Amino acid sequence: MSSILRAVNLRKVYPNGVEALKGVSVEVAEGEVVGLMGPSGSGKSSLLHLVAGLEKPTEGEIYLLGKSLTQMSEKELAELRQKHIGFVFQFYYLLEDFSVLENLTIVGELAGIRGSRERALEILEYLRLTHRLKHRPSQLSGGEQQRVAIGRALMLQPSLLLADEPTGNLDLAEAHRIFELFLQLREERGLSLLVATHNEELKVYFDRLYRLKDGELV
Ligand SMILES: Nc1ncnc2c1ncn2[C@@H]1O[C@H](COP(=O)(O)OP(=O)(O)OP(=O)(O)O)[C@@H](O)[C@H]1O
Ligand SMILES: [Mg+2]
Repeated sequence: MSSILRAVNLRKVYPNGVEALKGVSVEVAEGEVVGLMGPSGSGKSSLLHLVAGLEKPTEGEIYLLGKSLTQMSEKELAELRQKHIGFVFQFYYLLEDFSVLENLTIVGELAGIRGSRERALEILEYLRLTHRLKHRPSQLSGGEQQRVAIGRALMLQPSLLLADEPTGNLDLAEAHRIFELFLQLREERGLSLLVATHNEELKVYFDRLYRLKDGELV
């Protein structure tokens, strides 16, 4: 299996001197669902932000589909990110003044793709949200908001979905439904996933698991 993501010896020191990652290497193969677990402050979000190209590592290399992220200009990085990576944030960050449908279509419109509305409708149907198209995010349950955030991350048809505690604010039943959805996306769309969670009950969904502690793999 070829690797979609490969990070080698990542070190991240924030400007305040905190060393959040102390030489971490991870790999995600095509179609793999990989977990990232560890206590609060162990570096899970830092690692996801680095491999998404949202922040630069202090040391180390990141390869996405064989291309080195650290050698790229901001523009090249933005293009690669837009084309290949979907990011699901823990706290959704949905646009409150827009409807569910608009939260998705705006992503396609900003990226200049045609047929944004059709694609958004198709994704929202897949995510069982067709009955909520005109609702505002604040009018939805936590699980529904999380599904909208996932839908938004799927708009540009990424090859890799990075999810940072995607079920952190949900009850266990809804968390299982979100993870079943992830497996379904892998089956039906060939998506690869790297998912951070601190919930031990959800590790059954992972093909493989990395554990972080104090910025190191254990
Ligand atoms: N922007 C930042 N500036 C300075 N320090 C940071 C920054 N972001 C994270 N840190 C520090 O880096 C360490 C790792 O944080 P990180 O957010 O990666 O952990 P985490 O495993 O995602 O934790 P949680 O489970 O609470 O989300 C922590 O000590 C944190 O305080
Ligand atoms: Mg975090």
